[in-house]
Amino acid sequence: MALLEVENLQTHFATADGVNRAVDGLTFSVEAGETVAIVGESGCGKSVTSMSILRLIPEPPGKIAGAIRFNGKDLLKLSEREMRAIRGNEISMIFQEPMTSLNPVLSIGQQIGEALRLHQGLSKSQAEARAVEMLKLVGIPAPEKRVKEYPHQLSGGMRQRVMIAIALACNPKLLIADEPTTALDVTIQAQILDLMRDLKHRVGAAIVLITHDLGVVAEVAERVIVMYAGRKVEEAPVNELFKNPKHPYTKGLLGAVPKLGSSLTGESTRLAEIPGLVPSLKKRIQGCVFASRCPQQTELCLEIAPALEEKAPRHQAACHYATKEAVPA
Ligand SMILES: Nc1ncnc2c1ncn2[C@@H]1O[C@H](COP(=O)(O)OP(=O)(O)OP(=O)(O)O)[C@@H](O)[C@H]1O
Ligand SMILES: [Mg+2]
Repeated sequence: MALLEVENLQTHFATADGVNRAVDGLTFSVEAGETVAIVGESGCGKSVTSMSILRLIPEPPGKIAGAIRFNGKDLLKLSEREMRAIRGNEISMIFQEPMTSLNPVLSIGQQIGEALRLHQGLSKSQAEARAVEMLKLVGIPAPEKRVKEYPHQLSGGMRQRVMIAIALACNPKLLIADEPTTALDVTIQAQILDLMRDLKHRVGAAIVLITHDLGVVAEVAERVIVMYAGRKVEEAPVNELFKNPKHPYTKGLLGAVPKLGSSLTGESTRLAEIPGLVPSLKKRIQGCVFASRCPQQTELCLEIAPALEEKAPRHQAACHYATKEAVPA
């Protein structure tokens, strides 16, 4: 059994002009200790997926269906109280913008300590000692002094380190990081990435990493899920995906990524621009969701949606024309 099993997840939003199918039948899993990246253009449902896992989608207008099993337990069936015991404890999250996620009127130490006192019943002094330890772990100098400071006294990079310290304070089994480096400048991005890789080995948490940056994916992830218009169009181990992309959308995204490892040299490796627009998620599309932008589009694509199929070992793609290699039975 995998640590996290997302099965046929559908997160839809009721809007004035129709239902927005932000996530439409997504299935994937994450093993204990594994790092899985989710990539795709803006609006394809990455953040909605992560918010769904933590059950942070406002209902209404949102509505979640399917199953999200964590250690075999379906999170969608838990009460809000049971869910609160899991959030920030067994599953924690790092958001893109550290300033808006930190509380400006609480000290750094209080914010790290909050989760520890709530979930692990530590006393005030135990929580503060642990907060200092966590600041040390994420590489903040003079942690005894910093623990008493407030968010505005820290630089952007330091605040993101504090966010990571908060997320890891309770030793979560799963960390969801939604664009954890996007708001930072490139040098700091590289430092935070280094930190995440180092922590992955030391802390052993599984990570779901959401990012636009393929350099980050190459550096940190073991497996990659490519999303388009609320669905998974391709999934493969990271080296396989970069070497042998099978979906025309993935090939398009990879177009501007000449070499692996460039994120640590400070070069930005954003997804390539693909001509055309993502289709409206409010309309049912009969054929392939990518057909309207696909250079290989045929009549078949407009009529019949391709199923997500295993095209090579551990490598799935949803394209009628993706080449299929021998998959051992
Ligand atoms: N609370 C909400 N109410 C209505 N629609 C929403 C809500 N939250 C998200 N959506 C819609 O869900 C779709 C997916 O959004 P999501 O934020 O998951 O995209 P994303 O892949 O994270 O994009 P980005 O890369 O820009 O962060 C979008 O069409 C968005 O407008
Ligand atoms: Mg997002």
